[in-house]
Amino acid sequence: MKSNVAEIAPDLYRISTFHPDYGIQFNQFLIKDDEPFLMHTGFKKMFPLTLEGVASVIEPSTLRWIGFSHFESDECGALNEWLAASPQAQAVCSLVGAIVMVNDFADRPPRVLADNEALEIGTHRLRFLSTPHVPHCWDAGLFLEETDRTLLCSDLFFQPGDPDPLIEAGIVDRAREAMIANLSSPLANDMPYTPYTDTTLQRLAALEPRTLAVMHGSSFRGDGRTAILDLAEAIKETLSKGPN
Ligand SMILES: [Fe+2]
Ligand SMILES: [Fe+2]
Repeated sequence: MKSNVAEIAPDLYRISTFHPDYGIQFNQFLIKDDEPFLMHTGFKKMFPLTLEGVASVIEPSTLRWIGFSHFESDECGALNEWLAASPQAQAVCSLVGAIVMVNDFADRPPRVLADNEALEIGTHRLRFLSTPHVPHCWDAGLFLEETDRTLLCSDLFFQPGDPDPLIEAGIVDRAREAMIANLSSPLANDMPYTPYTDTTLQRLAALEPRTLAVMHGSSFRGDGRTAILDLAEAIKETLSKGPN
């Protein structure tokens, strides 16, 4: 396995590793700035690959912030490896994430971000959005990079395989196909449809992102508002009815 690195927005690097056993990509996003920010740590067992990818952009020991949407191994399994490699690094997460998991799991305490709180990292500013159960997990949150309006959208827009880093059309069709295929897989039910799901997606659409940085599959550049609204419809059609 090997990590592929591509700059998909100004100073925003996608570090992508395709894992053949899973048949999907695991993508981290590194924002190069005065205080470098990494979205997702990747699996603990893939840490050397992620480290190599990060090292091709910055000196890894200068990493300052580690964000992730929710507490799962692909999102934050290598958190302690990163805290050891980068002495100034600190996790940022929701209050629920800190209290329920990260305070206990992490070798250094995280910084808790409130909903809508800004994190200044130099020329870029990140806005934390608390999104419980979107894409999944109680502690979930996402980040909007406000300078260039990139939404770091975690498992939303999931697409399998090893597709191109960045596409400008067709992302919702691919995500819909993946959701339909997933309904009959052993990993079905990854995203709950709750009373807040649609409201949360409408809120994300209203942010009008220009780039959607996707954790599994291609990222997207274009009309992020329409893409999220179309995804919300696809999610409603596919997931709101419950099991067949
Ligand atoms: Fe996840
Ligand atoms: Fe994920």
